[in-house]
Amino acid sequence: MSRNEQKAAVAHAAIRYVEDDAWIGVGTGSTADLFIDELAKIKGRIRGAVASSVRTAERLKAHGIVVEELNNLVERDLPVYVDGADEVTEHGAMIKGGGGALTREKIVAAVARRFVCIGDASKLVPVLGKFPLPVEVIPVARSYVARQLVLLGGQPAWRMGHTTEHGNWILDVSGLTILDPVALEAKIRALAGVVTVGLFAQRGADVILLGGDAGVRTLTPGR
Ligand code: 5RP
Repeated sequence: MSRNEQKAAVAHAAIRYVEDDAWIGVGTGSTADLFIDELAKIKGRIRGAVASSVRTAERLKAHGIVVEELNNLVERDLPVYVDGADEVTEHGAMIKGGGGALTREKIVAAVARRFVCIGDASKLVPVLGKFPLPVEVIPVARSYVARQLVLLGGQPAWRMGHTTEHGNWILDVSGLTILDPVALEAKIRALAGVVTVGLFAQRGADVILLGGDAGVRTLTPGR
């Protein structure tokens, strides 16, 4: 199966985690886009969706799916959030933010009772860090945070020409071998000027659906 076929297969498989008559959190990226296309087929079963980016909201609306802001929901949490990842371990820790939507993704993930991560087989890694770790920073803090990230062993590169939906900048940090993702997430998050770090380890994936030649593989680190 090609990478795209694998993404389509996991997007389809994720539909069985969608709860009827409820809101669903929807992530951002090429795999999430395919999930949205699948969701459109069962849109009559759900109340609507909470999007993790403007791009996702637009795709959902184009399919006629109701999109609601998290602040407007009466419910305190969402049953399910479905999103892709740039890297994921079998323990459910992820690097996300390749598409730049990490802040809203983290917020929607925080209110979800279940995080379903979908990706092609290449996303599963033994150790996080080969994919540069995105860190969203307030613009005035860029140099300071970059120097601190060097002290943590990384090589930050400014994602030039990219401003996030929240008016911030992103540093992509390469050269990290992330053996303790929970600890590194806490350390980077604590730096002054950091808005979000693209490490999703403290709140990782509960279910991982991975594509592959033999079909969709399901890992359940959340159990
Ligand atoms: C966007 C993300 C995406 O989930 C991640 O980049 C994976 O994208 P794709 O499904 O296109 O490989 O975190 O901010």
